[in-house]
Amino acid sequence: MAGIRRSLGAICFLSSIRKPFESHDTRGLPVTPCSEDELPELNDAGSPEQRELTRREFLAASGVLSAGTAVGLPGVTHAEETPAAPGRAPTMMPITLSINKQKRQLTVDTRTSLLDLLRENLDLTGSKKGCDHGQCGACTVLMDGKRINSCLTLAVVAQGAEITTIEGLGDEANLSAVQRSFLEHDGFQCGYCTPGQICSATALLDEAQRGELSVVSFETGNTSKPAITDKEIKERMSGNICRCGAYPNIVAAVRALVQNGGAA
Ligand code: FES
Ligand code: FES
Repeated sequence: MAGIRRSLGAICFLSSIRKPFESHDTRGLPVTPCSEDELPELNDAGSPEQRELTRREFLAASGVLSAGTAVGLPGVTHAEETPAAPGRAPTMMPITLSINKQKRQLTVDTRTSLLDLLRENLDLTGSKKGCDHGQCGACTVLMDGKRINSCLTLAVVAQGAEITTIEGLGDEANLSAVQRSFLEHDGFQCGYCTPGQICSATALLDEAQRGELSVVSFETGNTSKPAITDKEIKERMSGNICRCGAYPNIVAAVRALVQNGGAA
C-alpha cells in the first residue's frame, strides 16, 4: 500500500511539473490536483531532501526519466524539452469489398480497423466493441466464412473479401437458425456479446461440418470428424466472453443446433 501511494505521489509530482493546477479528465472537466497532503507516507519520509531523493529513486527505477537524466550525465535533453513529433497525415487507400452481400468501394485511412469501418463509417453497429484488443470476441464477424476479431483486422486487409456481420445473418422478420436458437434457449442477458456469439456459433457449425479439429479433439483423441460435444462447444466458443455469464444457455443453443444438423 505504501508503495502504491508512493507511486501515486510520483505520478502526481510529474503532472505538477508539466501542467501545474491545470489537469483535466477525459471529459475536459478540471481535476483537483493531487497534493502531498493526501499522501501521509511521503510526509513521513523525513526531511525535504530525503523526500526528493525518494522521488528521484522512483523515477529512475520506473524509467519515466531517461537513464541519462537519472544518473546526471551532461548533454541529455530533458523529456519536457523534446519538441513534439510533427503529426503525420493519414494515408488513404481505396478498397473494394463485399459487406453482407453488398459490394462497397471505399477509401479508408490505412489505420482504420474493420470494426471501426463497420460501426463508424457504415453504421453497422451490430458488431460490438468490447475490449478493442482481441480478448472478448464482441466484435466477431465472418470474413469469407471464417470468424475473425474485426477490432484486430485492418479494413485494408479485407480488400476483396466477403464480410458478414450480424446484420447480414438475418433480420427480425427472417432470423437465421442460430439467432432463433439463441432466442429459444435464452442464450443472452444484456445482449452485448450476442452478435459476436452468434457469428462465432455460425462459423462453428460450418467448421464442424468440415470436420475441423480443436484442442479438445486432440485431447480426446477424437481427430476424425469429431463429435461436437459440450466440451467441444465450450472450447470452440471460448473466444467469446459473456460478462453476464449466460454460458449454460449459449452452450444449450449451440448444442440444439448441432443435434438438429444446423437447424434451430
Ligand atoms: S472488441 Fe474485438 S475482441 Fe474485444
Ligand atoms: S449477454 Fe451480457 S455480456 Fe453476454
